[in-house]
Amino acid sequence: MSQARFRAAGCTVLVASASLLTEQVTGKTTAEAAVVDLRGHLGCLEASREHCPKLACDALLEAIREYSDAAREEWIGDEALICTCFFVSERTIEREIASRGLTTVADVTRACNAGGGCGSCHPLIQEILDSTVTP
Ligand code: FES
Repeated sequence: MSQARFRAAGCTVLVASASLLTEQVTGKTTAEAAVVDLRGHLGCLEASREHCPKLACDALLEAIREYSDAAREEWIGDEALICTCFFVSERTIEREIASRGLTTVADVTRACNAGGGCGSCHPLIQEILDSTVTP
C-alpha cells in the first residue's frame, strides 16, 4: 500500500487507532497489512475502549477484501487468480492439493500462502478443494 487514509465518526480512541493503522500499513503488501495487529501499540486502554483498535483493523480487512475481489475480477492473466494477496493461481493450488493430499484451506495456506492474508479467497480455495477428486 503506497497510501492509506480513513474517514471515521467515532471516539478519540477509534480515530487514534485508525490513524496508527494507516501508519502501520503504509508500505506493506495487502497480505502484510491484513494481519497487522494494533494490540500493544496504543498503550493502556480502558476495557470499555479495547474494541476500538479491533474495529479499525476490521474496517481495513474489509477494505482489503473488497480490493481483492475487484482485483480478482479484473485479472487478465492466463491462469485464474485465486489469492490476490499472495498472487496464487488456481493451477498452483490444484497442484499443491494433488501433490500433497491437502484437505483444508489451512493446509493450502501452509503449503503455498494462498489464504494467508485477508481471507477473501477462502471460499474459492474451498471450492477447489471440494472439486478435487481424492483417491
Ligand atoms: S486474497 Fe487475501 S488471502 Fe487470498
